[in-house]
Amino acid sequence: MANLIHTRILGMGSFGPDRVVDNQELSKTVDTSDEWIRARTGIKERRFASKDQSTSDLSCMAAKIALEDANVLPDQIDLVVVATITPDMPFPSTACLLQHKLGLGKVACFDLEAACSGFLYALDVADAMLSSGRYRKALVIGAEKMSSIMDWQDRTTCVLFGDGAGAAVLSKEGEGIELLGFYCGADGSNPSWLCQPAGGSAQPATPESISDRKHFLKMNGREIFKSAVRVMESSCRKLLDDHKISIDEIDHIIPHQANMRIVESLSQRLKVPLDKFYCNLDRFGNTSAASIPLALDEAIRSKNVQRGQLGLLVAFGAGLTWSSTLIRF
Ligand code: UT7
Repeated sequence: MANLIHTRILGMGSFGPDRVVDNQELSKTVDTSDEWIRARTGIKERRFASKDQSTSDLSCMAAKIALEDANVLPDQIDLVVVATITPDMPFPSTACLLQHKLGLGKVACFDLEAACSGFLYALDVADAMLSSGRYRKALVIGAEKMSSIMDWQDRTTCVLFGDGAGAAVLSKEGEGIELLGFYCGADGSNPSWLCQPAGGSAQPATPESISDRKHFLKMNGREIFKSAVRVMESSCRKLLDDHKISIDEIDHIIPHQANMRIVESLSQRLKVPLDKFYCNLDRFGNTSAASIPLALDEAIRSKNVQRGQLGLLVAFGAGLTWSSTLIRF
C-alpha cells in the first residue's frame, strides 16, 4: 500500500561557480555573437567551474547550504543520490566522493544518470526509498560540470551549457515542500540526438576517439527542440491527469532551463501565462541535471512562492528522458 505521508523537501541549496562568462566573451573565441545566442536561446551568461573544481566539489557546496537550510546534521543523512552526466570519474560514484568530502556516515550512496531529467528522477527514487521505511533522510543532488564535456570547436553546442549544482534534503518527518506526485518516462530509440559517443564500453577511449572529438557532447538541436516541447507538454498533462488537477490550479512551473523558446512554446501549448514559469537560464545557461534544483532554490528564495501554492517541475533530456513532479510549497 502506498505510504500516505508525503515526502518533503526540508531545505535546499544551490551553487554557481564564481567564473561568469557572458556571450560577448564567448564570441571572442567561438564564431558566434551575443545577438544570436540571446535570440535563439535567451542565454546571456553562464558560469564555469575552475580546473580544480569537480562535480563533487560543486555538489558539496550546494549540499552544505541545503543541510543548513534544512537544519539537518550531516550524520542524520542515510541516503545520497547524485544525478549527473558529468561524474568526477566513471567510478566510483560522485555520491561516494561527496560522502567523504561532506563527512557523512557510511550510508547508501549512488549516482543516477537521466541527463537533464536526472534531478526529478532522483526525487522519485529517493521518495520510493524513504517510503519503504528503510531510510529517513536523503540528500538529493543535481550537479554538472558541463564545461568538462563541451567541444569548443562546435558553436552549435558550446554556447548553450553551464556548470552548477542544486541540493535538497528530503524526509517524511518535518516541515517543508511536499512532493505530491511523480512521473518519469524515456524513449531510447534515438540515442545519437544527444550523447557523448565515446568513453564507455561501446567506444572505449583510444587515440582515434580523442582525435575524432568523440568524448565531447554531440547534439541534434532541432530534433531535441521538437521532442522537448512535445514531451514536456505530455508529461505535465499526464501527471496532472493522474492527480485530477487542472493546469489552472498550478501557481508556478519550474521547467528545465534549456532554451527560452522551448519554455515559450510550452507556455503556449499548456495555455499557461509565461509569468507562471520561473526561469534563470539567462544567467546559468543549460546546467543539465542541476537546472531544476538551481531554479527551484532561487524561486523559493525569491519569495514569490507562497506556502500552500502548487508547483509543477518538468524536465527532458538525453535518452530521451522526461519527468515531472507535482509539489505543494
Ligand atoms: O537539455 C537538453 C539539451 N538541449 C536542448 O534543449 C537544445 C534544444 N535545441 C535548441 O535549443 C536549438 O535547436 C539550438 C539553440 C541548439 C539551435 O537553434 P535553432 O534555431 O534550432 O538553430 P539551427 O540549429 O537551425 O541553426 C540556425 C543557423 C545555422 O546556420 P545556417 O545553416 O542557417 O546558415 C547554424 O549554423 O544558426 C547557425 N548557428 C549559429 N550561429 C551563430 C548555430 N549555432 C550558432 C551559434 N552562433 N552559436
